[in-house]
Amino acid sequence: ISGEQSVKIVLLGDSGVGKSSLALRFVTNEFRPYSESTIGASFMSKSITVPFSPSVRNDEGQGTSDSKTLESRQHQRTIGLKIWDTAGQEKYRSLAPMYYRGAEAAILVYDITVPASFVALQDWALELQHNASPELMLVICGNKSDLGECRRVDRGVGEAYAREMGAVYVETSAKDGQGVEDMFSGVAMRIPPL
Ligand code: GTP
Ligand code: MG
Repeated sequence: ISGEQSVKIVLLGDSGVGKSSLALRFVTNEFRPYSESTIGASFMSKSITVPFSPSVRNDEGQGTSDSKTLESRQHQRTIGLKIWDTAGQEKYRSLAPMYYRGAEAAILVYDITVPASFVALQDWALELQHNASPELMLVICGNKSDLGECRRVDRGVGEAYAREMGAVYVETSAKDGQGVEDMFSGVAMRIPPL
């Protein structure tokens, strides 16, 4: 659709943490228990309508007599999310800059049951700090929240790290859908309007 704002989002993180599953859940609302490891990268897109967040509303105090309908329409916008799902296997690591370059947001994913994937996430965060735009929005995503009884990275540890990095922290499950829609719409809402 012409005139629609679009946002480039890149998913990064170790192989097996669920990047492709998160994209698939968000875009098609499906889950595959035996998903294939991504080769190179894959692309998916979806348009969503989100309210302007209070911090970016610039019409406060005006048009107070508008009807409810008009008001709610004015306070929403449609954003096309262009999602680049990268391959987590080490052999594809050198491709990553092609995908995070020019991105407005990076979602760094780890698996809450695999501490090594949280360590790997910190490497990604440092790489982005050094090589990506300082404007890049960072989201730290602890995935597989449905496996809570096997959790090996405390939520507080993830949250503390996100705070340190100035990142947003979310926990998701691509399997049951928990938190997935909110994560992507949260990114869209934080994108400044054109
Ligand atoms: P690469 O493409 O190799 O980088 O991996 P990936 O991060 O894309 O992981 P993928 O989405 O392929 O998921 C790996 C495995 O974890 C698959 O068997 C998924 O079904 C499973 N999986 C993904 N997300 C979840 C989740 O939230 N909960 C559970 N229980 N399993 C999940
Ligand atoms: Mg994948």
